[in-house]
Amino acid sequence: MRTEIAAPQQVSTGTLPGWDQVDAEVLAAHRRYAADTEGAVADYIPILGRVDPELFGIAVADTAGGRHSAGDVEVEFSIQSISKALVYAHVSQELGHRLVSERIGVDNTGLAFNSVMAIELNAGNPMNPMVNAGAMATTALVPGATAAEQWETVRTVLSEFAGRQLVLDGEVYHSEMQTNSRNRAIAQLLESYGRIEGDPLEVVDVYTRQCALRVTAQDLAIMGATLADGGVNPVTGRRVVSEESCRDTLAVLAATGMYERSGQWLFEIGIPAKSGVAGGILAVAPGKGGIGTFAPRLDPAGNSVRGQRAIKYLSRTLGLNLFASEPAGPALQTTADPAPRAATEQETA
Ligand code: DON
Repeated sequence: MRTEIAAPQQVSTGTLPGWDQVDAEVLAAHRRYAADTEGAVADYIPILGRVDPELFGIAVADTAGGRHSAGDVEVEFSIQSISKALVYAHVSQELGHRLVSERIGVDNTGLAFNSVMAIELNAGNPMNPMVNAGAMATTALVPGATAAEQWETVRTVLSEFAGRQLVLDGEVYHSEMQTNSRNRAIAQLLESYGRIEGDPLEVVDVYTRQCALRVTAQDLAIMGATLADGGVNPVTGRRVVSEESCRDTLAVLAATGMYERSGQWLFEIGIPAKSGVAGGILAVAPGKGGIGTFAPRLDPAGNSVRGQRAIKYLSRTLGLNLFASEPAGPALQTTADPAPRAATEQETA
């Protein structure tokens, strides 16, 4: 669909509940899931298997710069796939809405994040920038004359999102470089389809570095709040990306950010989000704020179990679900009116 609509873009607005209530709900979410041990730590990147699985932090940052947190929000871990969202935001800003959607795609593969079959089934189209294939094709488009320049841009942009200088975790980078033959295969396959120009192994190197940047749950919340705030970091007050690229990034996250579980996530939680295999999740309530969580045990799709549960709780209690509404005025009574229904235990689990 290529219809351009020449009309001003109106934006979704709204505010979070009062500061005290947000603070109380963040603490309540942490208490609620602190003892939850479901899931397993990722170990296909060997060093990730050494993390303390009990770590658990929840942070919220609002678009006015306010912050709330509970638990291990200052522990650093590697950003992994969450970097894909932020690199995409930058590339989309630099190269435009149309070009990026045509070259990479914006549709869910329905398959795992590192699927080779998804590329073959789609004639070499990486399908979206959140799976490894699409993320590497996106990183390949980062402006820069050399891979070193591209890496410097990536590091600078992600640091601007966080509002502090982010540092590469050398151990994670080397651990992944020694074991990422699958990503090398994906990048070379994309080259064979003409989807990556230049040296595919250099692209893998920059992509692996971006995944190994160290962040905290607090950083993820601020990065999310920047995407919620039309591209301006609400803590530093600096513009990081354009409003248009924020909008596009959030749409892509809603459709693909939680991989093959994205539909389930939207159905249950109703806000765009991105996960990483080290246990982080970044979620965004447009116009309101960002949530960052860290809890290393993952579900089979590679999404943090406690992180998902905590964000689900906060989405309900803070009124974040984009699809929830109530009538603007009083409804006329009809005999068919259903009685109001309390949330079931399953819905609040
Ligand atoms: O390329 C990889 O496999 C990792 N560097 C990132 C994967 C990832 O975080 C998937 N997320 N849930």
